[in-house]
Amino acid sequence: MPRITFVSPDGTRRAVDAPDGETLMRIAVHHGVEEILGECGGACCCATCHVYLDEASMTRLLPADDMELQVLEFTAAPRRAGSRLACQVLADRRCEGLIVQLPATQI
Ligand code: FES
Repeated sequence: MPRITFVSPDGTRRAVDAPDGETLMRIAVHHGVEEILGECGGACCCATCHVYLDEASMTRLLPADDMELQVLEFTAAPRRAGSRLACQVLADRRCEGLIVQLPATQI
């Protein structure tokens, strides 16, 4: 079970144990991370689970597929090189130590 850390725009950090196979979006919602809305329930169509991952972490994870890349065009906060949709990233051993930066807004 990897340990991941959500970091709010004000710097507040929340480290949580992430069950293998669960999405970062569901893990965030379960732990009360308010910056993640997940309005579509993980169907990859709302972009309200937008997060920023660092470059080193990006290389460890499976890349975004075409659908995720399309939806990332509609994020409320600026898209960056590390932008991902939290509902499309599954927790597994590759996520150990992952730092998940939260955007200032999702809507
Ligand atoms: S929860 Fe809607 S796109 Fe991720």
